[in-house]
Amino acid sequence: MSDEYRKDVGSAGQSAEAHVVYVGMAADLIHEGHLNVLKAASRLGRVIVGVLTDEAVASYKRVPHLPFEQRMEIVRNLRLVDEAVPQATLDYTDNLRRLRPSFVVHGDDWASGVQVVTRGRVIEVLREWGGQLVEVPYTNGISSTRLIESISKDGAAPVDRQRRLRRLIGASSLVRVLECHSGVSARIVEDTTVFDGSRTLGFDAMWMSSLTDATNRRKPDTDVVDTSTRLATLSEIVEATTKPILYDANSGGNLDQFPFLVRSLERLGVSAVTIEDKVGLKRNSLSEAGGHQQQDDIEGFARKISVGKSAQAGLNFMIIARIESLITKEGMSAALARAGAYVDAGADAILIHSNQKTADEVFSFAESYHRRGHAAPLVVVPSTYGSVREEELIDHGISVVIYANHLLRAAVPAMRQAAMTLLMNRCADADSANLLSLDAVLSLAGAPKWP
Ligand code: SPV
Ligand code: MG
Repeated sequence: MSDEYRKDVGSAGQSAEAHVVYVGMAADLIHEGHLNVLKAASRLGRVIVGVLTDEAVASYKRVPHLPFEQRMEIVRNLRLVDEAVPQATLDYTDNLRRLRPSFVVHGDDWASGVQVVTRGRVIEVLREWGGQLVEVPYTNGISSTRLIESISKDGAAPVDRQRRLRRLIGASSLVRVLECHSGVSARIVEDTTVFDGSRTLGFDAMWMSSLTDATNRRKPDTDVVDTSTRLATLSEIVEATTKPILYDANSGGNLDQFPFLVRSLERLGVSAVTIEDKVGLKRNSLSEAGGHQQQDDIEGFARKISVGKSAQAGLNFMIIARIESLITKEGMSAALARAGAYVDAGADAILIHSNQKTADEVFSFAESYHRRGHAAPLVVVPSTYGSVREEELIDHGISVVIYANHLLRAAVPAMRQAAMTLLMNRCADADSANLLSLDAVLSLAGAPKWP
């Protein structure tokens, strides 16, 4: 222990053995930085580690790579730790009031950034019984986030990627999914983050939309792009990224075809397939013709779900049943009856689609759905009712939001603008301020750096 550190600890006045020392951590990937904190803590007394639950970690960064039970087991078995307890929120208050530690030990990096408020609260609560916060100098050059980033660069094993969606749904208030239609657009979903002043936000998963995959090939969204071609796009996306993928399979094909699709997607590490209860010529739900689409009968579609569930080899893959009744005007009670039958048939989630300008009918569906006690999570696609906010979706018990077409819609006007600027100026550099630099193009494509 450094002299400076001894000074920080102050005169607690009791033998080290008598003190309870509390350390909160996610402990996703234990590294030198964690050990430095634990070493400092163990010099002060009996170390109790509060292991943050998946929900607690997801509330400020990401769902941890290792499940909570495994993280508890690892921490419990560290020589520097006397006891491990769950910490269910980022806020320490409940555990602190229960354990009344003499000290809380933490790295000094939380004095700024996302955990500032948590830190302030710890100091406040410790004051209630004269406890102290001890901050250990941050171990430079190492953090779980950096380790995870460097692992992710080399891709994700299919099974790890696949099971992540279920864990995200379990741990987050809302899983945020964005459309992609190519390796590059998928990489944008993977990498884009913003700091909103209190936490870093990003997308949890990607949506492989039938609409934008077709449009990107200048084909209509009517099933004219065959499955092999779609799986080629999917394969590009798989290679470029590590986050979970939700694959939009239209109707999923007929009863004979769907099991083969399930197995192909599962092998590639896709987390979920959505199938919509449509038959006959496929029409996009947001198009004029979408309202006249013929729906499958309830038993036929339920059978397709159960055939798909029996086809999957592992337990992680999800089948999301998409209900079109609000679009075909079959109506709310039919939509709810379908939801019950699809969940009974084994659907892992229900996507309720709507082409209205407001979320009213989706919310009224969600209320009745929850009142009936269905546990399968709800998924929505707010393309026409786009002014709805994520907080409202959370308030209505929606688990997954899919922003289904935004990157393609962003790309087309940007490309048009570049083409027009070239024509107006007849000079290659005319629009360069709005273009990706050539260096950035090369690094986006992951070009090898030859010696
Ligand atoms: C898609 O993105 O292809 C979808 C959503 O299925 S929608 O376009 O609303 O049908
Ligand atoms: Mg689609």
